[in-house]
Amino acid sequence: MSKIQSVVRGVGGYLPERVITNDELSKTVDTSDEWIVQRTGIRERHVAAEGEMTSDLALHASRIALDNAGLTPADIDLIVVGTTTPDRTFPATAALLQHKLGITHGVAFDVQAVCSGFVFAVATADGYLKGKMAKRALVVGAETASRLLDWNDRTTCVLFGDGAGAMILEAREVPDDAPENGVLVSSLRTDGSHWDKLYVDGGVSATGTIGHLRMEGKEVFKHAVGMISDVIEDVLEKTGKTTADLDWFVPHQANKRIIDGAGKKLGIPEEKTIVTVDRHANTSAASVPLALWVASEDGRIKSGDLVMIEAMGGGFTWGAALIRW
Ligand code: UT7
Repeated sequence: MSKIQSVVRGVGGYLPERVITNDELSKTVDTSDEWIVQRTGIRERHVAAEGEMTSDLALHASRIALDNAGLTPADIDLIVVGTTTPDRTFPATAALLQHKLGITHGVAFDVQAVCSGFVFAVATADGYLKGKMAKRALVVGAETASRLLDWNDRTTCVLFGDGAGAMILEAREVPDDAPENGVLVSSLRTDGSHWDKLYVDGGVSATGTIGHLRMEGKEVFKHAVGMISDVIEDVLEKTGKTTADLDWFVPHQANKRIIDGAGKKLGIPEEKTIVTVDRHANTSAASVPLALWVASEDGRIKSGDLVMIEAMGGGFTWGAALIRW
């Protein structure tokens, strides 16, 4: 008997050129570098240039992931993009990315789970591959969150940044007793009763406008650590692992205090935790794949490592996945 594994072939990332520091922000809103660093750990964020769209960021990240995998766009037959800031209301940013990659075959669609978008996209692609509906998936988290921000609202505009990350997953048929590899298991959750704690106050059907991101930061913070721990514990239980088995913890990068809180609750040491929130801020669905890219580029995440990814965001949505790299 055989089984299918969704194996990681490569990762990529891209950050727009323009960097905005906390000091620069403090010239336009009533904030300070000291407040932002102390409350969030964020020091700077990247912001897309005028005319630079989510699919453009996704394209840069995807090309790097393809290069790292030694593949070309023609090898991909599934594109799943986690985004909350699509280029257009429709078509899906995944369809526009497919077009920019110069391919017309396979299937491409977006997943909308806000900051959890990449984890949801990984779980979706893993299901497609294991269900024999595709052979090679390009899984992307890409955002231009800057376009949704109210730049006069100091409670939100200091928190977010733009960027994209990409990962290639490949279906491999192996004997039933083959050693574990690739995406081992995912755990996803949604609870829409919390929708108005983190949302956009506009939309096609609600207002006919784009709107701005609104957040009750304290409320989100209150739920974050518990929700993150819930899905991580579920993934560990399903795989019979403990946090001691993890080589790397790659959390969603919203706030250093949330990352530290989750690490402490779960007993994951800081040395095993990848942190990019200081340089990237919260890039929503792009934060986890960007962190994976940074840590594999600098040699921390290596083949064979056991990597836990997690995210939590608007909806609320939250999820985790365990990956043997
Ligand atoms: O991806 C998932 C989505 N997002 C998150 O996970 C974010 C979750 N929430 C958070 O990270 C935190 O709640 C924040 C960073 C947003 C806020 O930190 P906090 O420690 O919860 O602060 P707070 O909202 O209680 O605000 C404390 C004070 C308030 O002033 P008063 O009422 O005490 O006088 C705010 O008005 O800080 C003030 N404040 C600021 N001051 C300077 C809020 N934003 C700023 C700012 N600069 N940018």
